[in-house]
Amino acid sequence: MAIILAVETSCDETAVAIVKNRNILSNVVASQIPIHQRYGGVVPEIASRHHLEAINVCVTQALEEAQLTWAEIDGIAATCTPGLVGALLVGTTAAKTLAMLYEKPFLGVHHLEGHIYASYLSNPELEPPFLCLLVSGGHTSLIRVAGCGDYTLLGSTRDDAVGEAFDKVARLLKLGYPGGPAIDKIAKQGNPKAFPLPEGRVSRPEGGYHPYDSSFSGLKTAVLRLVQQLEGEGEIPVADIAASFQATVARALTKRTVQCALDYQLQTVVVGGGVAANSALREHLAAAAQGHPFEVHFPPLKLCTDNGAMIACAAAEHFEKGDRSSFSLGVESRMGITEVMNLYG
Ligand code: KG4
Ligand code: ZN
Repeated sequence: MAIILAVETSCDETAVAIVKNRNILSNVVASQIPIHQRYGGVVPEIASRHHLEAINVCVTQALEEAQLTWAEIDGIAATCTPGLVGALLVGTTAAKTLAMLYEKPFLGVHHLEGHIYASYLSNPELEPPFLCLLVSGGHTSLIRVAGCGDYTLLGSTRDDAVGEAFDKVARLLKLGYPGGPAIDKIAKQGNPKAFPLPEGRVSRPEGGYHPYDSSFSGLKTAVLRLVQQLEGEGEIPVADIAASFQATVARALTKRTVQCALDYQLQTVVVGGGVAANSALREHLAAAAQGHPFEVHFPPLKLCTDNGAMIACAAAEHFEKGDRSSFSLGVESRMGITEVMNLYG
């Protein structure tokens, strides 16, 4: 199986990793979180500048940790969509330059494919077909994976992505950025049943509710109203609100995932994306799997949030199929997961 070096710079992590046979040989992540924290979110121009400063060091470190030379690398990959355009450009330009210099094939990777395949790194025996619940800062999707590059989008969000909802609610509760880990941490001291909150459902034009789509704007507004009401009554019970919010999200996502897996008769569910690190979601889904005919796989915590190993893993799957990208491939801020094969050929 091929040895792939991949670069990931779609948002606020400069990441470079080397993967062989679904095994991580090195996985370097230079996080910019402390830099963006003071602005309460990612500032795109600052992100690009820091990627530029960090990228060469990360590439060198990845090779050193894997104890490999360029001669042993079979292909070079980079996330080219979706993400911040300036940030993506730094990573793809670096990867293409290295590929040209060392005469290696280049592969552009869809960031979400990285999140889908992150579970392969801890469960190398996993194979399609499976259902992927992809929960990140930009996506809340249920994707049927029939094979590498063969995806059907079964459910998505009608408004905020789930990670975005975590970040916005954290801001409301003055917990800082990034919000997901902060909510997860403080929720451990709270009562998840303290405040009943709406799960958010999406109506269908023909009546009833969409079984796989999510909506988080109503839940976010309910938390805002609750905070406003409690502010008038004295100290805000932040831990109880965080725990109630998190449990509501976990319940809503678990219901949709279970329904989808059962309807499509998929025996494997794989979870990916930053919110896959959430402890309540992990508990709810694992408990649901106990009573149903499917298994649930989560990546280890550090492979849930953005990293280079998941991009290298996705690239390796394409590499083995013979997929290669053109050096003229550009970057795109948005691209649907069902369009990934446009990156090759
Ligand atoms: O996958 P990711 O690193 O970047 C994107 O592709 O978007 O996901 C980042 C998102 C952020 O919204 C962050 O708040 C959320 O994942 N997140 C969490 C947790 N860790 C990260 N949300 C809930 N609980 C967590 N433990
Ligand atoms: Zn991501």
